[in-house]
Amino acid sequence: MEQSRALPTEVDLSRPSAARVYDYFLGGAHNFEIDRQLAEQIAAMTPNLADTMRAGRAFLRRAVAELTRAGIEQFLDIGSGIPTVGNVHEVAQGINPHARVVYVDIDPVAVAHSRSILEDNELTAVIQADVRDPRHILAEARQTGLLDFSRPIGVLLAGVVHFVPDEDRPDEIMAILRDAVAPGSYLVISHSTYEDQPQEMLEAQKLSARTSTEITLRSKAQITAYFGDFEILDPGVVHMPLWRPESPDDVDEHPERFGAFGGVARKRAPGADEPAAG
Ligand SMILES: C[S@@+](CC[C@H](N)C(=O)[O-])C[C@H]1O[C@@H](n2cnc3c(N)ncnc32)[C@H](O)[C@@H]1O
Repeated sequence: MEQSRALPTEVDLSRPSAARVYDYFLGGAHNFEIDRQLAEQIAAMTPNLADTMRAGRAFLRRAVAELTRAGIEQFLDIGSGIPTVGNVHEVAQGINPHARVVYVDIDPVAVAHSRSILEDNELTAVIQADVRDPRHILAEARQTGLLDFSRPIGVLLAGVVHFVPDEDRPDEIMAILRDAVAPGSYLVISHSTYEDQPQEMLEAQKLSARTSTEITLRSKAQITAYFGDFEILDPGVVHMPLWRPESPDDVDEHPERFGAFGGVARKRAPGADEPAAG
């Protein structure tokens, strides 16, 4: 990759990074040899994985487009990665040029590249922060001046909550985020699962321990619980390609092979009746 002028000195190039491995799978240019080696090793064990990552990005793209069409014009994207292929702001601003996006990632390389890619886009900001400290993220996001928390926000957690181990209380993190946003806000989650998965997928999970963050696979019920009392939109929490596919090409014959569930839910107005979940 090009040696970006924005790469900070604290970037650890001696270990693979989850964001750069992901960028490689998506066909991006922001990765190093050490990341590509791990990516190839994982890909050799799970030929599905590159497809899985693309399916994850495609799910996110469809969800952001739906939310923008539903009137959401501000997004908080936590665990955003390197905004390389099908970025949230591109999708949202393609529909509403005024849409604002605050990107958050823990990885200094993802953040450095995001800042360099987005420096000319005044409607975006990038924060380096840990999803395990949601109050810090919310405070920093407010400080950007881009997000108005008194109005509906799309909070995106695509492929990130599985990096939070149970001992770091992902349920509490999600509750804090749900509480912080106004009624009419949406939560978008995709999360890796062990349900319906072959053994090699579970083996690949062990390799993730070599990046700075290990993955915790969870059940559909656990993932669904992260939406709390938000109203889950149709078609519910489903294997990612099954979430509102735009064309028959989006739907794989075996949608479970992507190993992750995705869903979108909306915060109800206080006192609103319990509508049927999708
Ligand atoms: C699989 S990528 C997902 C990228 C993007 N959301 C998407 O769906 O295309 C996961 C991202 O989460 C970030 N991440 C991992 N642990 C995190 C944490 N504790 N806090 C914030 N970001 C984290 C990684 O650096 C990586 O960029």
